[in-house]
This record gives sequence, structure tokens and C-alpha cells, in this order.
Amino acid sequence: MALLTRGVARIITSGQATKFLSTTSMKSLSCGRALSFTVSRMASSVRCTGEKAEVSPPSHRWFSTPAAESVRTASAIEKVRLDSNGVVEVEWSSGGVSSFPYVWLRDNCQCPDCHSAMTGFRRVMIKDIDPSITPVTAEVVDGKSIQLEWPDGHRSEFDWQWLQDRSFTQEARDQRREAKRRKLQLWGSEQLEKLQPVEFDALMKDEMALYDFFNTIDTVGLALTGNVPCKVGQQQRLAERIAYLRPTHYGLHESSVYSKPNTSNLAFTGQRLHCHTDMPQYSSPAGILLLHCVQEAEEGGENELIDGYHAAYQLKEKDPEAFHTLTTTPVSFAMHGKDYIRYDLEKTRPIISLNPEGEVVRICYANQLRSALMDVPVERVQPFYRAMRAWDDVLYHPDNCILTKLNAGEMVVFDNWRLVHGRRGFQGGRHVQTAYMDWDEVRSFLGVVRRERNLNN
Ligand code: OGA
Ligand code: ZN
Ligand code: ZN
Repeated sequence: MALLTRGVARIITSGQATKFLSTTSMKSLSCGRALSFTVSRMASSVRCTGEKAEVSPPSHRWFSTPAAESVRTASAIEKVRLDSNGVVEVEWSSGGVSSFPYVWLRDNCQCPDCHSAMTGFRRVMIKDIDPSITPVTAEVVDGKSIQLEWPDGHRSEFDWQWLQDRSFTQEARDQRREAKRRKLQLWGSEQLEKLQPVEFDALMKDEMALYDFFNTIDTVGLALTGNVPCKVGQQQRLAERIAYLRPTHYGLHESSVYSKPNTSNLAFTGQRLHCHTDMPQYSSPAGILLLHCVQEAEEGGENELIDGYHAAYQLKEKDPEAFHTLTTTPVSFAMHGKDYIRYDLEKTRPIISLNPEGEVVRICYANQLRSALMDVPVERVQPFYRAMRAWDDVLYHPDNCILTKLNAGEMVVFDNWRLVHGRRGFQGGRHVQTAYMDWDEVRSFLGVVRRERNLNN
């Protein structure tokens, strides 16, 4: 286990960014001009008529316009065709054909009657759309958009870029999913050396410093800030640079962790807190934990920090059966007492949660809060304990576990869905402030900054 040394360390990287489809498609324009259409620009070019048109059966004809020919060099769309399989086929000037379902096109009409450019909200209601709707005609407009006419005379126009960005091809969907995938950096005890404090003042003043700080928490799972004033209220100041703190039964803002009598929580004693994630008793545990040391312990009080994702993948590799057990066995975590409010909470879920792609997305593990009540047949109990033991061994392995003592004026901020943390027993007047944020607000902040500053990640 690495202890109290901070310097440079190796990082294991998983997942690579790939280009957005739109970048590729823009390059394919032979005129070389970057055509960037926004939904609002598009909406203004849409014509809506109330005229009734005759319904004609779908044909296999390709539609192209003389206009499209005359602007060939700048053209993005070569032809459009109504296919009998319920899709509009668009042939791109750069090659290839994409299919867009009729009903999806009607649903996503971008005209002002169907879509609010100001809010981005859809105005069309499902009850008003016939799932079997078929356009009457389709045509290419200036080589850059397609126009469809529907049986009731309504017309919809779709810009080529808008269509390409929403392509249904397997390749396009894979690329979009990959671009959205978190770029995780998994780590072990060597990460301690990389845990260099960022000036708190920079986070208070500089939006890019704030962005980098929270982006690091998203990819690495944790970040440290130093020279934080040694008084309460600092997590709230930090959170309010972006959004706000997450209220919990501990309080609306922060809560003070120090040894106190008559407590319903082991955290508020000087005893060791074994490795855990916070709030497993909640249906949605807070995504981010902010731990601010106001006064360090005279003796003890070090924090253990473990990359739970890395530990889970190691378990999967070493002991697939244990991994399977921990991803499928429902475990109840329960807590009751009185802090800011009276509470009596219980939530049941596996210790390791996966997404449909089999990637680890959340760890919920607090042995001290695990309920004796189990909703599994008796023969699944012993294998569950065997799996938990294997998991615990990986977590506490010296290669996986950082042990560090926060100095007064330091704040470690980490992903509570990913890191498993603990605290060694302590003596003396240790005072730590804990507070929470949720990932939605933090990811929203990262997304806004990315968009405003045109950043890739
Ligand atoms: C907690 C906790 C850490 C600490 O209260 O859940 O993990 O350093 N506290 O006291
Ligand atoms: Zn419309
Ligand atoms: Zn905790």
C-alpha cells in the first residue's frame, strides 16, 4: 500500500475517443466548406401547408432535382427515395445510402408547428401520429436537404447534416455510443503520487481549472484541492460555482464529522470505518462525495481510497464466478436514525451494477450497513459470502488501496459510485466536513463548458 507520497504515477487507460460522425461527413463535402446547420436555422426554412395531398403508395423511384445537379460541387445529398419497407432512403453525394423510417421523420418534423426551436421541445403528440404513415412525395432541395409531403399536405424539410447526425446505421450508432462513453483511467495505489492538490482559489476564480478538476473526477474518479480555508462552508462554495450540494438526511448542505456522544452513525466516533461507499441505503446514492479536512487528527484518521471499478474488473478476471454473484445477488442496505430528519431507509441492489453492455457503472458496498435480511434461496447464501470475501480481498490488496492522511485545508472530491473509501480510527479533535453533489449537475456543467469552449473532452 502506498502511503503519504505524492508524485508521478502510471495510469491504465481504457477506452479511446473516436470522431463524431458529423466531422467525417463534413470532410466529405467536396466544396470543403464547413456547413453547420442548427435546428433553429433549419426550422426557419421549413414550409408548412395545410393543403391536402393525395395518398399514393410508396414507390421505388429516386427523386433528384435540377437544382441539386447545378450545385453539384456543394451537394451533400444526391438522391432521395421512398422505399416500400417504410423508410426514406437518402443517397449521399459522398457515397453510401442511409435509411430513415417514415414515422420517425414525421415525429421529428422540425417545422415550427411540430418543434419549438426556442426550447428544443417536440410539439407533435404521439396520438396525432399514425404509426403506418407514409409520405406522398420526397424531393432533394438544393442538394442539401430533403423535403417530404405527408398525406394531409403537411411538409417537412430535413437538413443533410441533421440527418447524418442521426443516422441509424450500425456504424454511426457505434460511433455515437463510443463518443459518449466515459474515458476511464483505472488505477491502483500508485495513483497517490499523482494526487497533487489544485489551489482552491483557482477553482473559485477560473472556470477552466474548475472544468479540469471535475473532468478529472469523471475520468480518474478523484481530485484533491489544497489551501481550502479551514472553516465550514467550503464545499458549498465549490458546489455553487457549478450548481448546488445534494441534500441528504445528514442535512441540506454539509455535515460535520467528528467524534461525538450518542450517535446513530459509526462515522461520528473515533472508530475505524471500513471501506464503503456512502448512502447505499438510498435509491439514488449521491454521485460525488466532498471530504474537507478542517482539523487533522493528532493520531490516525487516514483515509483509504480504492478504485472500485478497477477492483471489480480485477475480480472479473480472477474470479468470474464471484463477479457474477456480486452483479446478480440482491443485497439490502438499511439505515435508520435521526440527523437533519428522522429516517428509516432500505435499498436492495447488487454490490456491483453493470450497464446493458456489461460495463461496471456503480459500486454500492457498505458492509456495516448490509442487512441480515436476504431475498435469496438458502443455497445462494454461502456462495455470496465467498464472493464478498474475494471482493474484499481485491479491495484491500496493497496494490489497489491508497492510504493518505488529509492535511487541514485539503479537500478530496471523489466519485461515490466508483471509489470505495474508509477511515482509520483516530484520537484527538479531528474535524472533517462531508458533503455531496450529484453527477447530473456536474456532467451538465462539463457539457456546457465543452459546448461553449468547443472542447472535445
Ligand atoms: C463517512 C466517511 C470519512 C472520514 O462519514 O462516511 O467516510 O474521513 N468519513 O471521516
Ligand atoms: Zn411539421
Ligand atoms: Zn463514507
